[in-house]
Amino acid sequence: MIKFADLSKQIFEIKNEIDTAINKVIKDSNFIKGEYVKIFEDNFSKYINVKNCVGVANGTDALEIAIESLNINEGKEIIVPANSFISSSEAVTRSKLKVVFVDIDKDTYVIDIKDLKKKLIEIQRQLLQYISMDTHVTWMKLTR
Ligand SMILES: Cc1ncc(COP(=O)(O)O)c(C=O)c1O
Repeated sequence: MIKFADLSKQIFEIKNEIDTAINKVIKDSNFIKGEYVKIFEDNFSKYINVKNCVGVANGTDALEIAIESLNINEGKEIIVPANSFISSSEAVTRSKLKVVFVDIDKDTYVIDIKDLKKKLIEIQRQLLQYISMDTHVTWMKLTR
């Protein structure tokens, strides 16, 4: 069987470093905020070349906080790759937004640009229909 993601293989090379760091955090009982989170935030913001970085408990929290912070109006759509983990779409519906799944490329497993274009055209078409409906309703009200 070919594993989708073999995490044990990925961790092997840096296992000692990870074990030492985890043991240190446990020994110091320094889990929330504190020195180690600050070190992580500083190093990670440098790594991805951004001014600020906020450490959170897990990937789901990160997605939920990121989406919530955008203050998107209820009912709007967010594009999610079809092969993504459940939290990607859960974070969207949690904020009362709609998930639009976009297929993935069969060779690279990332978003398929052709399907993305198709979905964007569909969203744009719906938006134009909505705008023209809205304009029509407004016009009817004005002319009554
Ligand atoms: C693409 C993706 N997003 C979000 C998550 C959720 O991360 P966590 O399990 O840390 O909440 C995962 C977890 O595997 C993931 O693969």
